Amino acid sequence: MENFKTETKMDIFNAIAPLQKQLKMLRQEGKRIALVPTMGNLHQGHLKLVEVARQHADVVVTTIFVNPLQFAAGEDFEKYPRTFEADCEKLKCSQTDLVFSPEVSELYPEEQLIFVKLPEIQNVLEGRIRPTHFQGMATVVLKLFNIVQPDVACFGKKDYQQWLIIRQMVRQLALPIDIIGVEIERDVDGLALSSRNLYLNENERRIAPNLSSTLKKLKKTFEEGLKNKSILEKSASVALLESGFAEVDYVKICFRENLEPVSNLDEAGKYVVLAAARLGKTRLLDNLEM
Ligand code: PAJ
Repeated sequence: MENFKTETKMDIFNAIAPLQKQLKMLRQEGKRIALVPTMGNLHQGHLKLVEVARQHADVVVTTIFVNPLQFAAGEDFEKYPRTFEADCEKLKCSQTDLVFSPEVSELYPEEQLIFVKLPEIQNVLEGRIRPTHFQGMATVVLKLFNIVQPDVACFGKKDYQQWLIIRQMVRQLALPIDIIGVEIERDVDGLALSSRNLYLNENERRIAPNLSSTLKKLKKTFEEGLKNKSILEKSASVALLESGFAEVDYVKICFRENLEPVSNLDEAGKYVVLAAARLGKTRLLDNLEM
């Protein structure tokens, strides 16, 4: 397996058939294929996924597709930043081999009527706020898996719930794909990188890092011995509001493996605290394993 690539050749595909032809050839040469699904407007968090993918495969396929199925009416599907040229430059530098960037009509030539049906995890946290989101997300990811047939696929823990759902889907449907969860990439001030950070004005951008610092503080208080879940969650919510967030959708401590709610915190449990809060019109997500 190559650890690095010297040439910067990168092939870009908009259609499924030529992409599959190329992948078939690569597979016949015995190459191991990694997939990094994205919606574009790439930042260092996405590029970290590409870097990790390279460590696990000979060929990295990055997809750029803003998936209408996972946006509800009134969400930012139309407004979502589309920066294809700049994305390709970044992917070239980060040694992606193949880019797949289909039009909506290529991926959905007819109305999509078959969806992945997800269990209860789709209804909690992000799913409570965005009821059809995960079903649309899992459906496009399954479709991308079927098109690319990767050996391995990388997902960011920035979208913790998404990563767990994909892991479970792969397990339950016996898909022959290794799913790798990649740690969150952050700005120097702690703000988790996100394409939606672009929506923040100067003042909001100044307030935004309080999301990560509040979760850090919650974790520290827990480690120092405060095991009362609702006090931990409530004081984090209050701290977010006091720091300038307009609304807190949730701060929740859950079991790390399945995001089931915790009733009593103890030393032995493996937890993650997840939060979503609004700054102006922008929703920010973050989480921290504890
Ligand atoms: P998108 O938001 O573009 O994210 C693509 C991938 O990058 C996801 O796995 C996400 O968790 C990861 N990512 C984003 N910001 C990150 C950060 N700061 N650190 C580490 N990883 C980060 O998530 C989606 O697109 C879509 O739902 C998709 C899976 C492509 C299906 O449409």
